[in-house]
Amino acid sequence: MKILTTIDEVRVASSDISKAGKTIGLIPTMGYLHEGHLSLFDNANEHSDITFASIFVNPTQFGPNEDYNKYPRDIDRDTELAEEHNVDYLFIPDALEMYPIGFCATMYIRNLTDKFEGQLRPGHFDGVALVVCKLFNIIRPDYAFFGQKDYQQTLVVKQMVKDLNMDTKIIVSPTIRLDSGLAMSSRNTYLSDEEKENATVLYYAMERAKDAIDNGERNRKEINAVLHKQLRSVQGIRIDYASIALANDLSEPDYFYPNEQAVILLAVYIGKTRLIDNFLITFQ
Ligand code: PAF
Repeated sequence: MKILTTIDEVRVASSDISKAGKTIGLIPTMGYLHEGHLSLFDNANEHSDITFASIFVNPTQFGPNEDYNKYPRDIDRDTELAEEHNVDYLFIPDALEMYPIGFCATMYIRNLTDKFEGQLRPGHFDGVALVVCKLFNIIRPDYAFFGQKDYQQTLVVKQMVKDLNMDTKIIVSPTIRLDSGLAMSSRNTYLSDEEKENATVLYYAMERAKDAIDNGERNRKEINAVLHKQLRSVQGIRIDYASIALANDLSEPDYFYPNEQAVILLAVYIGKTRLIDNFLITFQ
């Protein structure tokens, strides 16, 4: 595995790969790799000739009171894991390489970013779109791999690729979970053992909402009520949002109809840790 730290080095590698007629699969990450990332590496190895991963804790997607400085980092461990999972190139730029002094550009994807995660973390998706756009321009991947856990992020990235006629195919892989149902996340490292136990309520709440839907519930407010009731069974939980929406545009109709694809979206605080999760549902 080659480790690259400058944009110039990446450009040379990427152009050599393209000249050799090989395809590139990219997994953009912020590091502190877990099973979810590793499954994306494996998926990229299957889909593309060359697997590129990036590790960059992107400052532009964190709000002023968020955990940018505290975000977990362990480059040595990440490098070993990437190598074990047959990543060919690992791009680890520093913040000045990505955002040199005088950097002025911004990105803004309308509509999709007004709600849920975007509403609660203003500017978050602008930062995500900006860094993903830069990574795509630098690496020029044929495929890029994202986890379904950040569902709204996958919609924003797909919209950006479509609207800006980018030549990268977005592939979304299912969320990887612990046996308890807790979705893998770098932020799980903030949780104590007791909080980890409490955090399983996210999965449990979505399962109960799914049961209600399987039993014929179609009313959005009733489904949301099931989610809220289950989540509140954990003392001290703080709910940012717990809702079901249409999967394609995150709009929130009063009722769902057969064949509609919906997504349950959750963001809650367990102690001081904010966790997100989602479930895709197709109404019968
Ligand atoms: O999902 C993440 O880890 C980040 O939002 C991403 C896509 C790597 C952009 O910084």
